[in-house]
Amino acid sequence: MDQKVYKLLNEQINAELYSAYLYMSFADYYEEEGLDGYANWYMVQAAEERDHALIFRNYLHENGQHVSLGAIAQPDKTFSNYLEPLEAGLEHEKLVTSLINSIYAAADEVKDYRTMKFLDWFIEEQLEEEATAVDMITKMKLFGGDARSLYELNQEYATRTYSVPSPLAAE
Ligand code: FEO
Repeated sequence: MDQKVYKLLNEQINAELYSAYLYMSFADYYEEEGLDGYANWYMVQAAEERDHALIFRNYLHENGQHVSLGAIAQPDKTFSNYLEPLEAGLEHEKLVTSLINSIYAAADEVKDYRTMKFLDWFIEEQLEEEATAVDMITKMKLFGGDARSLYELNQEYATRTYSVPSPLAAE
């Protein structure tokens, strides 16, 4: 495997684990604010991010590559209203999209079609994750100021359940 592609794939394990850690910190904020539905939503998201890390890890192993785990940075954001974590989430997903795109571009440069195909799932996943983040922001802006509507939104997010992402389920 090309060294640059390898390095970026290995770094993505860390980026995905950081995402899990970051979303756990969002869940902690909502938990402490009494919005347990939002907390549930972000804990499920954190589990999915851990799975994304595992998908990259497994891909490296399948290709006979060494996995090197680095330190995970501290999520250090503090929030002063319910909208802020949602907006930070969208910003973070945009960053992750740019990381995935960079790996794709590096793979394309060396004609690593296998890695490009592997990344297809993540490219679609990022589209979905950004769209969901936008939707959560829109709903909070529209309804978050009304206690009854916020209660209902919180109830809706309480119903999210974890399911194994398809690339892991297939293994
Ligand atoms: Fe693993 Fe939210 O991207």
